[in-house]
Amino acid sequence: MNPYGYFDDEAREYVITRPDTPLPWINYLGAEDFFGIISNCAGGYSFYRDARMRRLTRYRYNSVPLDSNGRLLYIRDGETCWNPSWRPTRTDLDSYECRHGMGYTRIAGQKNSVSVSSTFFVPLGQTCEVWDLRIANMSAHTKTIQLYGFVEWCLWDAMDDASNFQRNYSTGQVEVEPQVIYHVTEYRERRNHFAYFASSVPTSGFDTDRNAFVGLYDGYNRPRAVAQGHCSGSIAHGWHPVGAHQIDITLEPGQEKRLHFLLGYAENPDDRKFAAGEVRPGQQAINKAPFELVRAALADSASIDRAFAELKDYWAGLLSIYAVDIDEPHVSRMVNTWNQYQCMVTLNMSRSASYFESGIGRGMGYRDSNQDLLGVVHMQPARARQRLLDLAATQLSDGTCFHQYQPLTKKGNSEVGGGFNDDPLWLPLAVYAYIAETGDTEILAASCAYADKPDSGSTLLDHLELSMDYTLRNLGPHALPLIGHADWNDCLNLNCFSTTPGESFQCAGDIGGSNAESVMIAGLFCMACDKMSGIYDAIGRRVAAVIVLASRDRMRQAVRDGGWDGDWFLRAYDAYGHKIGSASCDEGQIFIESQGWGVLGGVGLEDGQARKALDSVNERLATPNGIILQQPAYSKYHVELGEVTSYPPGYKENAGIFTHNNTWIQCAEALLGNGDRAYEYYLAICPSKKEEQIDTYRCEPYVYSQMTAGPDSPTPGEAKNAFLTGTAAWSFVAIAQYILGVTPTLEGLRIDPCIPRDWKGYRVTRKFRGKTYVIDVANPNGVSRGVKKLVVDGRAIDGTLIPLGEGGETVNVACELG
Ligand code: GLC
Ligand code: GLC
Repeated sequence: MNPYGYFDDEAREYVITRPDTPLPWINYLGAEDFFGIISNCAGGYSFYRDARMRRLTRYRYNSVPLDSNGRLLYIRDGETCWNPSWRPTRTDLDSYECRHGMGYTRIAGQKNSVSVSSTFFVPLGQTCEVWDLRIANMSAHTKTIQLYGFVEWCLWDAMDDASNFQRNYSTGQVEVEPQVIYHVTEYRERRNHFAYFASSVPTSGFDTDRNAFVGLYDGYNRPRAVAQGHCSGSIAHGWHPVGAHQIDITLEPGQEKRLHFLLGYAENPDDRKFAAGEVRPGQQAINKAPFELVRAALADSASIDRAFAELKDYWAGLLSIYAVDIDEPHVSRMVNTWNQYQCMVTLNMSRSASYFESGIGRGMGYRDSNQDLLGVVHMQPARARQRLLDLAATQLSDGTCFHQYQPLTKKGNSEVGGGFNDDPLWLPLAVYAYIAETGDTEILAASCAYADKPDSGSTLLDHLELSMDYTLRNLGPHALPLIGHADWNDCLNLNCFSTTPGESFQCAGDIGGSNAESVMIAGLFCMACDKMSGIYDAIGRRVAAVIVLASRDRMRQAVRDGGWDGDWFLRAYDAYGHKIGSASCDEGQIFIESQGWGVLGGVGLEDGQARKALDSVNERLATPNGIILQQPAYSKYHVELGEVTSYPPGYKENAGIFTHNNTWIQCAEALLGNGDRAYEYYLAICPSKKEEQIDTYRCEPYVYSQMTAGPDSPTPGEAKNAFLTGTAAWSFVAIAQYILGVTPTLEGLRIDPCIPRDWKGYRVTRKFRGKTYVIDVANPNGVSRGVKKLVVDGRAIDGTLIPLGEGGETVNVACELG
């Protein structure tokens, strides 16, 4: 079915069986501060916290050949040079296998009876990655081979690699000790950190100058040192510092040897940066104490095994908080493993570093990271709490938010600025999710200054109220929220009027005084009101709860009055007051976002308006590959609409299938009780289902991609931009809460499934507020929705809510639909 690989569900691994996948299929290493991106051919790079300012190894994005730089292991066996990960020599292998697992990747290759397997992972609590190697001789004779481990350094501002590399050509330095190569730049002045690449066994040679190892006119596919069979002990002075270790290994028949490399990052206090003495005139030696600690902690195979076992336990723990036992393989593997894994990746990366995001341009997105939290609060409550406060701290005292902030400084990114009027409203959703999960209402009183007023003395609750207030203070002629630079659809830029190549559609133009309005924000506001009223109730502020619900009702009315087109919700009004997303438009007649948010905002639930909107989605936007963002595609540039009309039809926001917003329709269908459609839409974008058409789809079948090309494009069904997308968090919300129906609330756990009628039943195990709920859902009558009986530890209860405190440590729940 899929010629490139398969799911090993038991091991929680995706197994890639040939190296020439349609695109590099990547994984992430690291869970805390040190991260790496690794492809199935060991391409990629590592960094400490910030892929721009603390990148250790070099990666050439968007280059030819693709994915050519990374964690390179070369074997020289007689006259044959090969890589266990196939690239870059591309010597044919006798066998190859890559296993992407939870925070680790294992790549094994075999050639001429020598097998090399390397497991790459970042031990918990460390800021380094381990390359754990096993080298075995499968032949009947003694073999002597050489192994080279290689990285290319770049511990400088990664942006400079494109814009100011003339400087780097003179700043990069190295220091070499037996088995260890150190790399520094700017260390004598402004940096207090260094990188290291260490071998656990004695080496027989090294290089640190790229030209010496690779050759000026050679390539990674045939580096000179490997071809000639030895390193030359070069020392890099500027130019291109690298770390290359040569290890000569003799193996008896059947013998296996094990060794490891450590590739890592270390920091020194400013007053202890240097050791005594100079490496050479004008280069003081680094204080290596922090590295020595790591080396001691990871000295032998036993300590590597322990670290790996800890990582496995960490993931097993995280993935035991929400688990489903169900006879649907796609649901099972996505919910139990890959969807939650991807949620963790988006928590760590936001939209910064992937195979499609350079790690340079984008920090932590305000709307993105708030939404990402929805998928991880149950696994990482403490980090979620910190993230909420970090995000809120980038809100300004006028209610606007920095659209992005830099992870190292946690300061808002002033080049991008603010004025994306949906941004403030994602915070109430995320805070609600966090409090529902944890019960920690105290976070509301946590002090959290405004970005422009460090002494404001404000609390998180102040930020929430300011966010709601900001929307209410910025309404347009139809009493709908003003859109600002853009709402969730970053490319609907109704105030930019951009005609200058290269300028950012998001930042161009003046949003002051414009009347462009967003129906999507209106729906989002209504949901935010619901969340705020829950939050107010939880802290005993009943009056405030009533007031916020009244605002919600007024907004719903505004959507009904000014945001309804007859068969669906309008999308917006442009700066001239013209409708967008209306049957009266030539192109862009119906958009997905306002249908999802209209319904989720509770507009028209009683009188069929909501149902009608979703039926229009089904008729006009749904395809077997997912739901198109809008139709008909824009065939020309509309200066008053911005970037959305800049893309060729079928791509990105111009009628691509943007998977993130598909999840809102899944939720909306479930809200209205249509479990068959909710699940049909779920499957339409489900990565593991894409194995059936992988040569068209091309991206990783284990994680969501941001986009699939729509039917208007020349390449329908082709995915782009895997991994860093809000689809991850929202898919998890859609399946775990709306479809499987297990939702944390402030009052307890709600059990209210909405499933396809032909599902017979399933079991969800959910850890929540100190208890483990084992929830058996049975569907004997073939319905989608409706809890007929809910029995909690043997006691029948009314309704769908299991109140907090009900039941023992393990709560056995029987839920019968009918
Ligand atoms: C570099 C800079 C230039 C400077 C010169 C000497 O060439 O681009 O601005 O004058 O170095 O420092
Ligand atoms: C990208 C952005 C996100 C935006 C979406 C739709 O995924 O990261 O902020 O909402 O595109 O334009």
